[in-house]
Amino acid sequence: MANTLGIIKPDGVKRKLVGNVISRIERDGLILRGVKVLKLSKDQAQKFYAVHEGKPFYNSLVEFMTSGPIVVMVIGGHDSIDRWRNLMGATDPAKARYNTIRREYGTSIEKNVVHGSDSEATAKTEVAFFFNDDEILPKGI
Ligand code: RTP
Ligand code: MG
Repeated sequence: MANTLGIIKPDGVKRKLVGNVISRIERDGLILRGVKVLKLSKDQAQKFYAVHEGKPFYNSLVEFMTSGPIVVMVIGGHDSIDRWRNLMGATDPAKARYNTIRREYGTSIEKNVVHGSDSEATAKTEVAFFFNDDEILPKGI
């Protein structure tokens, strides 16, 4: 029953897809336990994506993620990590399954609209990167 971190990336916010993405989360039965709108600083984006440091796409990814506001979300519910990643689809929109967010709205392997934690360990650190405990709706409410 672990929470996961979802992000609507700058391309998604710019293209007014926030309502659509949250609607899909609700329709799937996942639970929104926290939400914020913010703009990442370069330092924050570099830290958040530190796992990709040194990869060819790292600098471009940091530039993209700081190019405009994002929406960060704590998403809960049974099996939330896998279910949110299934709703997102594969990293490359061209390879993502039909009816996934990235397939429908992603425009490139970089500008793929959403982010999701990929394991329980990363979910924990990624949620804590943006949210204090008292900003997350407790389970059972
Ligand atoms: P995310 O972390 O955003 O949920 O995406 P992911 O797990 O599906 O993909 P990951 O490998 O963690 O990559 C993080 C983000 O970096 C950008 N990217 N660009 N140009 C490229 O080859 C490339 N590869 C990855 C994407 O924005 C990807 O979501
Ligand atoms: Mg990832």
